[in-house]
Order: sequence, then structure tokens, then C-alpha cells
Amino acid sequence: MHAGKASLYDDLAVQLTSLIEGEADLVANAANMAALIYHGLPDLNWAGFYFADGETELVLGPFQGKPACIRIPWGNGVCGTAAARRETIVVPDVCEFPGHIACDPDSRSELVVPLIKDGRVLGVLDLDSPIPGRFDQTDRAGCEQLVAIFLDGLRASPAAFSL
Ligand code: SME
Repeated sequence: MHAGKASLYDDLAVQLTSLIEGEADLVANAANMAALIYHGLPDLNWAGFYFADGETELVLGPFQGKPACIRIPWGNGVCGTAAARRETIVVPDVCEFPGHIACDPDSRSELVVPLIKDGRVLGVLDLDSPIPGRFDQTDRAGCEQLVAIFLDGLRASPAAFSL
């Protein structure tokens, strides 16, 4: 594990905890988390959320970066696949991922973490990079830690997400 990168994620975890502490609004917390990640991690061209809309598709949530595709069918693309499989997906080269959805042609690698609360997939956190192989297992663990903090915030305010 890269010590510098791991400690960067530890710093982001502290900042995220502070940002969402005592705040119940899902969109506000997701927006601040997207901004924190986009500006806190190097070499990203997109960072944000897709939320479950019913049981058949994801819809765009708060993000930083260029405008993106609005709806992704469940099971499609990297985001829909991560949601359907209920597991984090690290894609070193998006050209090699069957069905990858190219919102920004500059994207070369991608990391998607599902948001799972009480057994339900609420959506995904999606990070894109213009650099091939940008994301490793430290990024995976770090982003899963950030998602856990985000979901804990929802637990403190169960009415915040009423899908
Ligand atoms: N590449 C994603 C689509 C979302 S954008 O990257 C913001 C995918 O294949 O699901």
C-alpha cells in the first residue's frame, strides 16, 4: 500500500466526517463529498453520484466535472454493473470494459463503489480519471471508507433517503 496515498484518504475521511456531521440533507452531503473528492484527489476528471431510481435504473446525482449521462440502466456500464453486482469495480482501462459508457471521452480509468444501506443499493459513487490505471487497491479501500462514512450519516438521519 502507498503510505502517502493512504494518509491522503485518512485526511479526506476526517474532512468528510466533519462536513456531514449533524447534516441530514442527502443532496447537500453528496454534493460536498463529490467536491471534497474531486478537489482532494489528484488526476480526476469526474467525481460524483448516481442514485437508484426505482429498481431498473440509476439517475445522475451531485457531481464535479463535465456534464454526464443522466440515466444508466441497472446492469449497464461500469456504474450499473457495480450496482447490480453490489461490489466495487476498478477499471484500469475503460476501453477494455464491455459496455463502458463514455460520458467524457477523456476518461481512461474508473472506480465505482456501490452505496449499500440495510441490504439495499441506494446508488454508486463514481470516479473517473484521464490517466490509465489511475486507481489501485488503496483507492478502492479509501473510497469504500469514504462511502461508509457517507452511509453512516444517512443512518443518523433515516428520513434523508426514502427510496
Ligand atoms: N462511465 C460510466 C458512466 C458515468 S460517467 O463516467 C460519469 C459507466 O460506464 O457507467
